[in-house]
Amino acid sequence: MSDLAILRTISQLRATITAWRQDGQSVALVPTMGALHDAHMALMREARTRADRVVATIFVNPTQFAADEDLDTYPRREATDIAKLQEDGIDLLFAPDADEIYPPGFATTVTVAGVSEGLCGDYRPGHFSGVATVVTKLLLQALPDVALFGEKDYQQLQVIRGLARDLDIPVSIVGVPTVREADGLAMSSRNLHMSSHERTIAPQMYQTLTTVAERIHNGDDVETACAAGREALTAAGFAPVEYLELRDAQSLAPGDITDPCRILAAAWLGDTRLIDNIPLI
Ligand code: PAF
Repeated sequence: MSDLAILRTISQLRATITAWRQDGQSVALVPTMGALHDAHMALMREARTRADRVVATIFVNPTQFAADEDLDTYPRREATDIAKLQEDGIDLLFAPDADEIYPPGFATTVTVAGVSEGLCGDYRPGHFSGVATVVTKLLLQALPDVALFGEKDYQQLQVIRGLARDLDIPVSIVGVPTVREADGLAMSSRNLHMSSHERTIAPQMYQTLTTVAERIHNGDDVETACAAGREALTAAGFAPVEYLELRDAQSLAPGDITDPCRILAAAWLGDTRLIDNIPLI
């Protein structure tokens, strides 16, 4: 258990972090939208190994949700989240209101061209600009030494790496491997929305990615293997299957298997949109 400081304003956050800095302490930032699960806590634990102080943020960022998306129903569990952060010895929770992040007159958007396009970018217009804008603000508010993000949201991770590089934000962006349930399903706050029947189907996304990776590894044509993966997801009950593709692990351009690559997929199970990705070994 720790003495978790819970702060709601940027000025309080800056004052606390400035005092730590004057004391020679390093700072790790873990941005989240709350409804914390084991994958978030893995980010917190990794953060603890990399800095003297760990700051978690919880902010359900409205600008990364389109009008027809699940902003209103996105799970919000602040009391439970606070208990988890205290149990793990996190130093500070920054949980601002929307007006603190987007005051009246707010007019700036950060867009990272290239990596924001295609894949989820095709299906969630404006999503990555919303993510890039809020993450830029959180990085500049906290000015951490290191910030940690899960590899489950792989395209998001590349967008964040891009903005930190292009805007010369002096932070090291660390991707942490996806944390999975025992049956392979990537942990996600949205998993809470699935029915018990959908939950039994959901692990097939990871299984399908693994099968496609093996086929490509064994010399199968990339497009044939990916098409078979999309068909397998459809046969399992995913609809629509938005994409299952091999991409370059850094640029996210269509992959050439001589370079490090990822296989990424997005598909719906009922009302729940699932995404996952794995490296091509
Ligand atoms: O991955 C998330 O939880 C969010 O997209 C993030 C990075 C906290 C930005 O709102």
